[in-house]
Amino acid sequence: MKILVTGGIGYIGSHTVVELQNKGFEVIIIDNLSNSKIEILDSIEKITKIKPAFEKLDLCKKEKLDEFFKKHKNIDGIIHFAAYKAVGESVENPLKYYQNNLVSLMNILENMKKYKIKNFVFSSSCTVYGQPEKLPVTEKSEIQKANSPYGNTKQISEEIISDFVHSNEELKSIALRYFNPIGAHKSALIGELPIGVPNNLIPFLTQTAIGIRKELKVFGNDYDTTDGSAIRDYIHVVDLAKAHIVALKRMFENKNEKNFEYFNIGTGKGNSVLEVLEAFEEVTKVKVNYKIVERREGDIEKIFADTSFANKVLKWKTKLSLKDALLHSWNWEKNILNLF
Ligand code: UFG
Repeated sequence: MKILVTGGIGYIGSHTVVELQNKGFEVIIIDNLSNSKIEILDSIEKITKIKPAFEKLDLCKKEKLDEFFKKHKNIDGIIHFAAYKAVGESVENPLKYYQNNLVSLMNILENMKKYKIKNFVFSSSCTVYGQPEKLPVTEKSEIQKANSPYGNTKQISEEIISDFVHSNEELKSIALRYFNPIGAHKSALIGELPIGVPNNLIPFLTQTAIGIRKELKVFGNDYDTTDGSAIRDYIHVVDLAKAHIVALKRMFENKNEKNFEYFNIGTGKGNSVLEVLEAFEEVTKVKVNYKIVERREGDIEKIFADTSFANKVLKWKTKLSLKDALLHSWNWEKNILNLF
């Protein structure tokens, strides 16, 4: 089976390519390297002993994409990661997000139709639920108005895909609504590679622990949670990567019940920012300098997944713990300078 992975050099993409190759899939990556480094290809080869095929390409460039599909025939499925993902930047520059995330998606779908590729896995987000009224959040929970253009591109993308696969009964898609992916491959050869100052908690934390940043700012300690800091469902990126393979197989084996399905991909457990900090210090024995500051604008108080639908239907569940993820993130942070 030949799988096209867009954004396959990025954080979640690279871990998914490793899992695909470990399971014997042939992989071809498209990535424009706008938020990733080409050296990751060598890391993937070191881990799996296979160098995946790679084309540097901007999915918004229609003609180039057309040439790509003419050249690479017999693709059995697509996993589409390539997208911009910084919430704050999307508020400042919404058109950049709508333009890139939606045009690239439509270009890919158009080629799916043209080249009769039937199976599509989409990288979605729990951001589609906003701050849910009831926790844990299930797939039946209401979709809420997105609180950022980035979040809105995920909602609109799901709608586009849903309409698209309903137009032809041969087409199938599964959207995976990720909670908060963290961690890195246990080899420390691939991991999250933020360009510039990290927005997300874990890269900021590991960069503080290693001395790149002075202190971690904990955004708010006055939320209605046990210790006042916000709660998220942190999932190890390798567990998350594996969910993509399960989703693909479900479509290949015609086990899907609808043309378009969506699943919560999380651990089912919520942890506060301060709990994460404490677990990090415990597992790495490194003290982290931190300060409580104001809440971050746009943040929700708490969210964690009800994963029972994914557990039952996909027969998938997480195996790695928060501490595994934090240790792997730390090992990765320590190895970054050796790699680049
Ligand atoms: N946080 C800090 N300090 C930091 C960074 C983050 O305290 O320096 C806190 C945040 O306030 C939040 C938690 O850590 O409570 C997690 O923050 P992240 O930025 O790591 O992740 P978010 O939950 O804000 O965002 C993630 C993804 C988005 C996605 C969103 C959906 O990054 O792509 O989940 O809820 F849209």
